[in-house]
Amino acid sequence: MRKVIEKIEQLKRETNEPICSYLYDIDHLCQHVKWVTSQLPENCHMFYAMKANANERILKAVYPYVQGYEVASIGEVKKARAIHAEVPVIFGGPGKTDEELENAISENVQLLHVESLHELKRLSFIANKWKRNVSILLRVNLRGPFPSATLYMAGKPTQFGIDETNIDEAIEYALTHPNIQLEGFHFHSISNNLDDGRHLELMKIYFQKAKEWAGRHQFPLTTLNVGGGIGVNYHDLEQPFNWERFTTNLHELVRQEEMQQVQILFECGRFLTASCGYYAVEVIDIKENHGKTFVIVRGGTQHFRLPVSWQHNHPFRVVSVEEWSYPFERTAVIKQEVTIVGQLCTPKDVFAKDVHVHELRMGDVILFFYTGAYGWSISHHDFLSHPHPKHLFLERERVTME
Ligand SMILES: Cc1ncc(COP(=O)(O)O)c(C=O)c1O
Repeated sequence: MRKVIEKIEQLKRETNEPICSYLYDIDHLCQHVKWVTSQLPENCHMFYAMKANANERILKAVYPYVQGYEVASIGEVKKARAIHAEVPVIFGGPGKTDEELENAISENVQLLHVESLHELKRLSFIANKWKRNVSILLRVNLRGPFPSATLYMAGKPTQFGIDETNIDEAIEYALTHPNIQLEGFHFHSISNNLDDGRHLELMKIYFQKAKEWAGRHQFPLTTLNVGGGIGVNYHDLEQPFNWERFTTNLHELVRQEEMQQVQILFECGRFLTASCGYYAVEVIDIKENHGKTFVIVRGGTQHFRLPVSWQHNHPFRVVSVEEWSYPFERTAVIKQEVTIVGQLCTPKDVFAKDVHVHELRMGDVILFFYTGAYGWSISHHDFLSHPHPKHLFLERERVTME
């Protein structure tokens, strides 16, 4: 954090433009991902779900520490191949076209996550035409209930995976078509789970379901993808998901459930890259309207959509800036509730509502934390055609910019 603040102070000295920048602490990212993956049992492997942030520097930084990349489009396959021609890539997502399936085969994707019986039939048809064998996992939409989380991809009606009640038919189809190699199952049921105990319960359900189906259909279960969904506690950064306790208990669970011979794949996005990212925006106006105080910053949710998408107050701190170049008084708010908004012409352009600030002045910088995942990547950058933010990558003594 210190070097991020120093960088903002330096930017402020060097330019007259209001600050509007993403900053990524690449050293932190490397250390964090190295630590996360080092805690996993031997038969568990971490893939990076690049949908969280597919910037090339981020992909390069995580590459040495992960098993490969989880992708959801051919565009993402290409981004993975640009990092390393042979990096393992696993490919999921609903509604894959024939062309995408063909490209996935020709790009030697290691595993395809099949999301419906129709997709399985098309894949088998294409593989047969090309005289290729394709390794797959069947993505299952379990009936639940699941631990509480921010988003649910399964356990209720969604477009993802094969309904648990139809899984036997899909398994039979896969097993009777020789160009399809059924390796196991894929589950990604929830997003942003903060409770390690509940996440472990979910792992147990996955292990037991997968063993039950493999046993019933008598095929060797070699691989199980247990998804991502490890959360970031945006409401209380002091109470993060307890990864250490989760992985300690996971060692035990793998032993108890006799899963040592099965490759268990994680495909995490948020938990790997959120913490390395910052979004720094300068306060360009402060005003009262209908008894509320609004702080307007250079930027907006077209750069950083996560808080408005999840309707949460995004965590931040104020970086004080001493420079003030105008001949008139500088507006300040002291120990007050404020709503922090961007420059868009919509009342939905809100980063944090009715949040307490100790002291905040016009020209100070608001530094949002944990913006490295689902920040820039999910935002609608060109709405209103404001300039894009700078993207700065802080790496040892080097700073690079896009
Ligand atoms: C299939 C799949 N796997 C993994 C992820 C990554 O999830 P997270 O960033 O919550 O770890 C997602 C996110 O939507 C996903 O859809």
